[in-house]
Amino acid sequence: MAKWAIVYDSKYGTTEKYAKWIQAKVGNADLYKAKGLQPETIIGYELLLFIGGIYNDKMPICDFIKKNIGHLMFKKVAIVGNGWYEDKEINREWIMDKNFSTEMHSRFPLFLVRGEINNNKISIPERMQLMGIKAQIKRRQDRTNDDIVALSMIDGMNSYTSEDNLKELYEFIDSGKWVIKR
Ligand SMILES: Cc1cc2nc3c(=O)[nH]c(=O)nc-3n(C[C@H](O)[C@H](O)[C@H](O)COP(=O)(O)O)c2cc1C
Repeated sequence: MAKWAIVYDSKYGTTEKYAKWIQAKVGNADLYKAKGLQPETIIGYELLLFIGGIYNDKMPICDFIKKNIGHLMFKKVAIVGNGWYEDKEINREWIMDKNFSTEMHSRFPLFLVRGEINNNKISIPERMQLMGIKAQIKRRQDRTNDDIVALSMIDGMNSYTSEDNLKELYEFIDSGKWVIKR
């Protein structure tokens, strides 16, 4: 049995790409789609990495984590969120707040990577959601770099999907800082 399980949730394929890069990097890892995954499948792994797309600041993969927290409490778990946010503390806190209760907030380390939006793949309601987000951002007086990245992704201008975005995660894995929180 592999030492690692990498569980991913990807609507449009970029998160899957990241999951495969991580699998190739760490070597001894099995890859699973979160959708339909039975918790029993992951019980035996020592290290679990969950990677999921961010949509309206929600990471559907966190629902799997919360539902199966009993199986995960005493394992090494890390989470990667794929969206338009830069990987910095304030953004990690924001995504944690949006997806976990206060008690679970800092339980697992979170890393953020950037992806892309392919306007040919998304549904009409999603396109409309994104138009709403775009209008909100455009109303802001002081736009942050994340706002500018979000706008360019929404317009389908840029792909930020790159293995370089996983540098922090790889450093964390190599550093030996990955411990089980009790
Ligand atoms: C409808 C929709 C809403 C999104 N909302 C957010 C968001 O709130 N925050 C964010 O960081 N990224 C957001 N994104 C960007 C996605 O997270 C990004 O496209 C990511 O690469 C998707 O991963 P996937 O290709 O694996 O589905 C959104 C994308 C779509 C299509």
